[in-house]
Amino acid sequence: MVLPASPDQRERIYLVGFMGCGKTRIGDLLADRLRRGFHDLDAAVQGKAGKTVRDVFEEDGEEAFRDLEHQCLAATAAWPGLVVATGGGLMAFERNRRLLDDLGTSVWLDVPFDVIVARMSEHGRRQRPLFDDEAEARRLYEKRRPTYAEADVRLRLTGEEPPEDAAARLAEVLRSEIPRERF
Ligand code: S3P
Repeated sequence: MVLPASPDQRERIYLVGFMGCGKTRIGDLLADRLRRGFHDLDAAVQGKAGKTVRDVFEEDGEEAFRDLEHQCLAATAAWPGLVVATGGGLMAFERNRRLLDDLGTSVWLDVPFDVIVARMSEHGRRQRPLFDDEAEARRLYEKRRPTYAEADVRLRLTGEEPPEDAAARLAEVLRSEIPRERF
C-alpha cells in the first residue's frame, strides 16, 4: 500500500512574497493545520531591535534592518519544523536566497498588486515604510517578482479567497509535491 507523502515534521517552511500578500495570516493558519510552531521574522527583528520596523528604518536605516533580518533568518536554523513568515524584501537579497536553499522549503504567495493595495489597511500602511508611496511600491513589486519566482513552490492566489482556504490549499500542495530531502 502506498501511503500519501506528508510534509516531514522537521522541515521548515518559509512563506515569501510581497508586503500584504498574507504571509503572516496564512502562515499562522498553516502552522495550526500542520501542528507546527509559527515564527514571524518581522516580529523577531522588532524583538531584537527593541523597536518597530518603521523605527529601525527611520532611525538606523534600511541596511541595518536588512542585517537584522538576515540574522533573524539565520537564527531559524535552530528550530526544525517551523512555519516562518518572512518580510517582503527578504528574497531581494542573494545572501538570504542562498540561506533559504539550505534552511527549508520556500513558498511564494503570489497575489496581484491591485488586490494588495485594495485590502491594505491604514494601519498596514503605517507599519510599512516601503509602502508610503504607492507608485514606488508597485515598481518594487514588479522588480521583485523574479526573485520570488526562485521559491520552491508558487501558490497563485486571487487575494480574495479566505485565508483558511489558502492555508488548506497550501497544506495540500506541500503534502503532494515537495521533494522531502530538505528540512
Ligand atoms: C518589507 C516588508 C515588510 C518589512 C519591512 C520591509 C519589504 O514585511 O519586512 O517593512 O522590503 O518589502 P511584510 O512583507 O510582512 O510587510
